[in-house]
Amino acid sequence: MRLSNKRAVVTGAGTGIGAACARKFAAEGCAVAIVDVDGVRANTVAGEISEAGGAAIGIAADVSEAESIAAAFDVAEARFGGVDIVMNNAGIVHPDDGDVAETPDAAWDRTIDINVKGVFLGCKFGVPALKRRGGGAILNTASIVALVGSSPSQIAYTASKGAVVAMTREIAVCYARQGIRANAICPGPIATEMTKQVMGGADLAEAYRQHLPMGRMGTPEEIADMAAYLVSDEASYVTGQTISVDGGLTSAYLCPPD
Ligand SMILES: NC(=O)c1ccc[n+]([C@@H]2O[C@H](COP(=O)([O-])OP(=O)(O)OC[C@H]3O[C@@H](n4cnc5c(N)ncnc54)[C@H](O)[C@@H]3O)[C@@H](O)[C@H]2O)c1
Repeated sequence: MRLSNKRAVVTGAGTGIGAACARKFAAEGCAVAIVDVDGVRANTVAGEISEAGGAAIGIAADVSEAESIAAAFDVAEARFGGVDIVMNNAGIVHPDDGDVAETPDAAWDRTIDINVKGVFLGCKFGVPALKRRGGGAILNTASIVALVGSSPSQIAYTASKGAVVAMTREIAVCYARQGIRANAICPGPIATEMTKQVMGGADLAEAYRQHLPMGRMGTPEEIADMAAYLVSDEASYVTGQTISVDGGLTSAYLCPPD
C-alpha cells in the first residue's frame, strides 16, 4: 500500500472530492482525519472508513477560522502521533458569486475567507506539523478556472483558485529543502453537490458536457487517484506543480461533436 504508516488531514472531506480522497488514502494504508464544517458528515465518512477496516477520525472545524483549524491539527496529531499529509480541499461557490460588475462584496469576502484563507491556515498550521515529522506532502485543491476563463463567470471563485495555485508554488519553493512538497490539483467538472448547485438546470449541464473532450464529467474517485499519487512517495520529485484532472478540458479549443 502506497500510504502505509502515513497520517493525513483532509479538509472538506465530509462529501464530494474530499470524501473520495479520504477513502482512497485510507485504502492505501493512511490514517485520515476527516475535517469538515459539517461535523455529522465528517463523522459519517470516518465511520464508513473505520467499518471498512481503515483508520479515521471525524473533526468538525471551519477552515476559515484559525482557532478552529489549529485545534483540528492538534486533535489529529494527538490521535495519530503526527501528520505527514495535508490536503486543503474545502471550498465553496457562493450562491451570489457571478459577473465582476454584479458580485456583492459579501460574496467575495466569504469566498476568499474559505477558499484562500482556508488554504493559508491549513498550511500555516500544517507546515509546522509536517516539520515535526521531518517532512511531508501538501496538496491543495484548486480548479481549472485558475488556468482558463469561464463564462458564465464566478469571479470570486476564479480569483480564489488562482490564489491557491500561486500559494502552492511559493510554499513548494520555500520548504523544498525541509522535505515538504506542495502541489495543486485542478479538477475539471466533477459530479458532486457543488456542481449540482452551480450547474442547476439541464441546459447548463449539457453546455459544460459539450465543452469536455471526453464528453462527460469526472468522478470524485478520478481526482482521488491523482491525489493519492501526489501525496505518496512515488511523487518524491514532484513539487510546485499544478496538475489538471479534467477530461482534456484545458487542452481543448473546439470539441468533436457527439
Ligand atoms: N466539483 C467540481 O467540479 C470541482 C471542480 C474544481 C474544483 N473543485 C474544488 O474541489 C473542492 C471540493 O469540491 P466538491 O465538489 O467536493 O465540493 P462539495 O460542496 O461537494 O463538498 C465540499 C465540502 O467542504 C465542506 N466545507 C465547506 N466550507 C467549509 C469550511 N469553511 N470549513 C470546512 N469544511 C467546509 C462542506 O461541508 C462539504 O462537505 C473545492 O475546493 C472545490 O472548489 C471542485
